[in-house]
Amino acid sequence: QAKKKLIASNNIGDLESIRVAFLGKNGYINQQLKLLNPTKLNMNPELGASINQAKKDIYNLFLKQKKTIQSQIIKHSLHTQISDITLPGRQSEIGAFHPITSVIEQTKIFFNHLGFSEVDGPEIENDYFNFDALNIPKNHPSRNQHDTFWFDTNLLLRTHTSGIQIRCMLYETPPMRIMSIGKVYRKDYDNKHTPMFHQIEGFMVDSNLNLMNLKKILYDFLHNFFKKDITLRFRPSYFPFTEPSAEIDILYTTNTIQSKQPEDKWIELLGCGMIHPKVLSNVGIDTKKFSGFAFGIGIERLAMLLYHITDMRVLFENDIQFLNQF
Ligand code: PHE
Repeated sequence: QAKKKLIASNNIGDLESIRVAFLGKNGYINQQLKLLNPTKLNMNPELGASINQAKKDIYNLFLKQKKTIQSQIIKHSLHTQISDITLPGRQSEIGAFHPITSVIEQTKIFFNHLGFSEVDGPEIENDYFNFDALNIPKNHPSRNQHDTFWFDTNLLLRTHTSGIQIRCMLYETPPMRIMSIGKVYRKDYDNKHTPMFHQIEGFMVDSNLNLMNLKKILYDFLHNFFKKDITLRFRPSYFPFTEPSAEIDILYTTNTIQSKQPEDKWIELLGCGMIHPKVLSNVGIDTKKFSGFAFGIGIERLAMLLYHITDMRVLFENDIQFLNQF
């Protein structure tokens, strides 16, 4: 009877009530066992054993049937609950480096390969490191060109990274090959200037350095950075802390439909020069034994030329539409 009912059942609920009817506390099997009173004369051990066997058989069949029904349920739901694989997926946005960060990284990698190690310096600087030690004394006219943000008479937001040269040369001995990348500040704001921008300062001090070593390193860097034929110009210039001083310009050709005629412009990329002997002796380096060169590169300038950005301010406005292009 139990076998028939179990095999015929097709859902877990029916199955469970069949189990209770036969194997439950007051079920059919227990009722039969109670009839076997061992104190009575009609005690029959064989009957007891066969009832227990039936109990086991029923329970095993119950388990088997339960498994069968469960797998039928799963099969059924696989056929009925169909996912629509043609629905468009959910887009996840992938971030990217800010153009300034990319340029900084590329620059670092290049100079690292040439053996320049990186140091960090304070953005709030003492005027001694930013000016005096760099041969720019209190009443020097070039102090005015720096459009400095002053805190008080001694403290300022650094106007360039060149102060790092002094900090390093005071505490280390030649030979030295150092770079430092960071934010600098000047009171300036138009499409070519923002009050905060980035510079990389690089400098070497060694026994046999000359201007050609400097020029070669910088030309290699710029050719590597722009990865195409570029025309560069090494032009004499003036910085109080280098002698001789130079600037490197890049030839920028615009061949737009509006202008019809290609328009060639020299754009200034960086300042450099041999470290002024006065600066070296300010930090106690023997100018008979050692010479040095230094350069300062504007990171924004590189980024603008590389990515054809015409207004520097967009670099810091965090406009998602602009940033998504990178
Ligand atoms: N500090 C200079 C500037 O900000 C750049 C420079 C660095 C020039 C090192 C010469 C040597 O314009």
